[in-house]
Amino acid sequence: MAPPCVMFLAFASLLLLAFHHGCYVSAATCHPDDESGLLAFKSGITEDPSGELSNWKPGTDCCQWLGANCREGNNKRVTSLALYGRPDGQSAADNPRSYLTGTISPLLSKVQYLESIQFQFLRNLTGTFPRFIFDLPKLVTFSIEDNKLSGPLPADIGRLSRLRTLSLARNRFSGSIPSSISQLTQLHHLGLGENLLSGPIPDDLRQLKGLRFLLLDGNQLSGEIPNFWKSFPNLESLILSNNKFTGGIPTSIASLAPKLKFLTLGNNQLSGKIPEFISNLKALDTLDLSSNRFFGVLPNNLKNLKKIMYLNLARNNFEDPFPDFVLENIESLDLSYNKFKLGEIPKRVAPSSVIFSLKLAGCGIKMRLEDWKPQWTSQYRDIDLSDNEISGSAVNLLNSIENLEGFWASGNQLKFNLSDIKLPKTLKYLDLSKNQVFGSVPQSVVGLEKLNLSYNRLCGKIPASKFPAAAFEGNACLCGSPLPACRRQ
Ligand SMILES: *[C@@H]1O[C@H](CO)[C@@H](O)[C@H](O)[C@H]1NC(C)=O
Ligand SMILES: *[C@@H]1O[C@H](CO)[C@@H](O)[C@H](O)[C@H]1NC(C)=O
Ligand SMILES: *[C@@H]1O[C@H](CO)[C@@H](O)[C@H](O)[C@H]1NC(C)=O
Repeated sequence: MAPPCVMFLAFASLLLLAFHHGCYVSAATCHPDDESGLLAFKSGITEDPSGELSNWKPGTDCCQWLGANCREGNNKRVTSLALYGRPDGQSAADNPRSYLTGTISPLLSKVQYLESIQFQFLRNLTGTFPRFIFDLPKLVTFSIEDNKLSGPLPADIGRLSRLRTLSLARNRFSGSIPSSISQLTQLHHLGLGENLLSGPIPDDLRQLKGLRFLLLDGNQLSGEIPNFWKSFPNLESLILSNNKFTGGIPTSIASLAPKLKFLTLGNNQLSGKIPEFISNLKALDTLDLSSNRFFGVLPNNLKNLKKIMYLNLARNNFEDPFPDFVLENIESLDLSYNKFKLGEIPKRVAPSSVIFSLKLAGCGIKMRLEDWKPQWTSQYRDIDLSDNEISGSAVNLLNSIENLEGFWASGNQLKFNLSDIKLPKTLKYLDLSKNQVFGSVPQSVVGLEKLNLSYNRLCGKIPASKFPAAAFEGNACLCGSPLPACRRQ
């Protein structure tokens, strides 16, 4: 086929004729193995509603197929395959047609020069761990996230020893993490988050000395967090939240300074005091210890964490005094439901011009809301002050925060005329339940996604809305749907 084609190409005037004879300009089309491997993949896909694979056609240059990339010079072989579902908006539901249903054909192993496979957010790929990747000698990146792959991880997973990135996040893999994983010594990124994995973190993991990202969150892993962190000089992210880990924070975490930026241990069953060494982790910008059983006074030197942007200590048993923090760079702070008696909203938080989320529910705050005068109000998206002893009015605050999305202040002593609030246009969630709010329900609440005005002193006709009766019950004299009809005066 090729020689006559080249001959035609030598005569530019005959180019047109060349097309007529079905002979294409690209001197080398797809390698037959690449073409048949990719077409086998396509035939394993039973539903492709957004037409992701619609230009994968036999006889065309597969280097041009969506998601397939060839490296020039390498005999023009396909070296990477990257297919992404397109979420477009914030959630999968925003682009419901962007997914692939089917299984991954093992014949994809014919694409022998593949260095990288990335399938992200295709959502509906099923089957077990794709063993054909053991037959891809050049593969260094393997990432299949947001799908429905299931079954155990193979016991011989360690044979994939060239891999630098292995991510299987957000699938349904189950069973334990095989100890042969210790042979993946080239790994920089190990992502097994949001699967159904159980058992302990294997001690052999300590061999993965090059790891920069270790993500094991959202599984059912248990046992103590191993004390082997001296082995990981490059670790930047340690994500272990939403598991069943017990015990304390192991001392060798201290050796992850100065590189560690993300440490998330939230929603486990960890206990003990927060060790002093935590303040040595000077690069830390995210620390999540929420929903555990930690207790005691926080080390005062926590204030040395000058880069901290996201701090979540909610739902533990921490006690006063809260460290004398100047949280200059804080973007998100959650101290809710500990044993703090802060008395007032900490003034030290105010210097942050970037804070967008402040959650201080159940923090023993006893002040008039008017006395809180945050310096920078335009950044706030979420404010949660529920279950404190805050009195006074929320009118000024709500009328001055332009971009607010959620305001939660249930269970306080707020007392103001609800008719006086102008809700920020951005507001989606408003909970003022269990206060002493009076006046009537303004028309502007109907556009909110969630509303709770129950147990206040409101009166009058409720504007027509989608909210259930529970959002309005326990008031002085509210009436009209969804509550009983108003009586005629
Ligand atoms: C996903 O796959 C299942 C069967 O494997 C099918 O019933 C379903 O319609 C597919 N599509 C979506 C969007 O889940
Ligand atoms: C609440 O404010 C509205 C509008 O300013 C006013 O008409 C109403 O009388 C007030 N209600 C109470 C109970 O003070
Ligand atoms: C509204 O608030 C009350 C009291 O805080 C609470 O019991 C109830 O569950 C809330 N209802 C909704 C629909 O959020």
